[in-house]
Amino acid sequence: MDAPPPIGVFDSGVGGLTVLGALHAALPAEDFIYLGDTARLPYGTKSATTVARYSAQCAGALVARGIRALVVACNTASAFALADLRRDFPRMPIIGVIEPGAQAAVAASRTQRIAVIATEGTIAGGAYQAAIRRLSAAAEVRTRACSLFVAMAEEGWTEGPLTEAVAHRYLDGMFDGAAAPDTLVLGCTHFPVLAAAIRAVLPPGVRVIDSAATTAAAVAAVIGAGGAGGAGGRGSGRVVWLATDGAARFARVGSRFFGRTLAADDIEIIDL
Ligand code: DGL
Repeated sequence: MDAPPPIGVFDSGVGGLTVLGALHAALPAEDFIYLGDTARLPYGTKSATTVARYSAQCAGALVARGIRALVVACNTASAFALADLRRDFPRMPIIGVIEPGAQAAVAASRTQRIAVIATEGTIAGGAYQAAIRRLSAAAEVRTRACSLFVAMAEEGWTEGPLTEAVAHRYLDGMFDGAAAPDTLVLGCTHFPVLAAAIRAVLPPGVRVIDSAATTAAAVAAVIGAGGAGGAGGRGSGRVVWLATDGAARFARVGSRFFGRTLAADDIEIIDL
């Protein structure tokens, strides 16, 4: 029997590889097509309109290649484009990273006081705040944009005094006071690679939520239960790699995010 069509995954660049890594671990026999829009990274500092337009182009390119489900593996794109994508591709199961992250946070928090760190766009758009309050009406949400973390993760500055100093600068004060959050959502694809440095500056006991694993569980549930071809795993675990610029950089930086060595020759550069 033929393998089912692959699952499409896109991000503004290599950050979504933290999500692809979790998808691959949860669904090892599924095939994937990953698209990183490296020519136009970052999305996190761009307007909602621009991010929605770029996201529609990424989704269109993946749908044209024949996918059976689409994962928006970028928090900023999930914040600004998910509703439009679901309207434009009504028959395609589309999973973003914000709803699974919010669900995991609400489930983990004892006090329903939740902190979220993300890009400027994700925080300004209010998608995490809304998703958490939809699940837990009384939840209190503190947010902070931590834009510099994106560049530091790409640079490979994931630990050490400089990284911790920046983490202090962003997070100090966020967990102070009687209403201090007990849970922190890493609301950006890049932040899981900085998790150790972030944990190092948090008060003891704060739970850290990385939406990659919960997104993978959501995808497994959708393709298993949503009639999108079954989670039977008849593929070979193959990944087709697409980017919009810079195969060598994609491979070099992406290897750190994916946790496995990627080869520049395997990355096809496409125009959107
Ligand atoms: N992928 C983006 C996100 O999760 C971070 C990088 C960017 O700003 O494009 O929000």
